[in-house]
Amino acid sequence: MTIDLEAALRALHAGELVAFPTETVYGLGADATNDAAVQRIFAVKGRPHDHPLIVHVGSPAGLAAVARDPVPDVARTLAERFWPGPLTIIVGASKQVSRYVTGGRDTIAVRVPDHPVALALLGAFGRPIAAPSANRFGKVSATTADDVRTELGDEVAVVLDGGPCRIGIESTIVDVTVEPIVILRPGAVTADEIETTLGRAVEREASGPSRAPGMLASHYAPRARVEVLERAAVGERVAQLRRRGMRVAVIDPHVSVEEYARSLYGWLHAADRDGAEYIVIVPPPDEGLGHAVRDRLRKAAGGGHAETVI
Ligand code: TXA
Ligand code: MG
Repeated sequence: MTIDLEAALRALHAGELVAFPTETVYGLGADATNDAAVQRIFAVKGRPHDHPLIVHVGSPAGLAAVARDPVPDVARTLAERFWPGPLTIIVGASKQVSRYVTGGRDTIAVRVPDHPVALALLGAFGRPIAAPSANRFGKVSATTADDVRTELGDEVAVVLDGGPCRIGIESTIVDVTVEPIVILRPGAVTADEIETTLGRAVEREASGPSRAPGMLASHYAPRARVEVLERAAVGERVAQLRRRGMRVAVIDPHVSVEEYARSLYGWLHAADRDGAEYIVIVPPPDEGLGHAVRDRLRKAAGGGHAETVI
């Protein structure tokens, strides 16, 4: 593993891109106060400009630097409870923030990642770092430094290698600018934990494109077609596909849900590398982290076709 923090800082100051590890997935980072650097993220990812980015800050105090005054109490409460950690909070945006970061919206997504390399980078840089997941738009997120290099290669000035990501799927996103508070993307911080912390109910399933920019039905998708099947249905379906001459990768994990989340994107990348045309995968139970994993599986399957059961 190579951690050249100095090179990363030089690159950020020069308006270049730095990929860095977080506890969820690798981020493709740029100086959030540099318009040209932020625009480079969109160019490299092939991401539409109206898909806003998450801004990473080094501590809960950093929230005040990017949020509009006054920062809502609920945002402070969630930040104190879950940061550093896999929770992204949507608040009103400060006028100082680049409009390229927010996609022209008046709200901003913020989090403090729970990874020593990310925290060292943020601490030394001293400014917010805008960073989406380090993958091409619509594709499977990177959970290792090798994934980043394979996917984005020379377009990133520096890749900080912090080993494989501990959680493996993207952060929970909660929007506290609306009433009721709504979860835009499930993740490792669960709706139950948020409700317990706030002492009030939140809306669990955001729907509709206006609600959640970038929350497309098809996302996190490998090249192969993905079918999500309960275990009992796998044998027959795989036999049927193979009779038709299809190259099928079967993913039927007997692991904890934490291990499942941590490994999922690696499995999908590997199936693509092996040239699979179909991926048949058995989901984890729909509880806790399993809920977030099933959300990603549904999106990998492209919004659900007949064979997909979740
Ligand atoms: O775990 C994560 O969140 C990772 C790591 C790198 O921190 N980042 C990540 O970023 O998943 P990205 O860009 O792939 O997903 C960010 C999502 C966007 O799809 C968008 O829907 C949502 O955050 N988002 C950002 N700003 C928003 C805003 N102002 N309002 C609503 N949604 C927003
Ligand atoms: Mg992403």
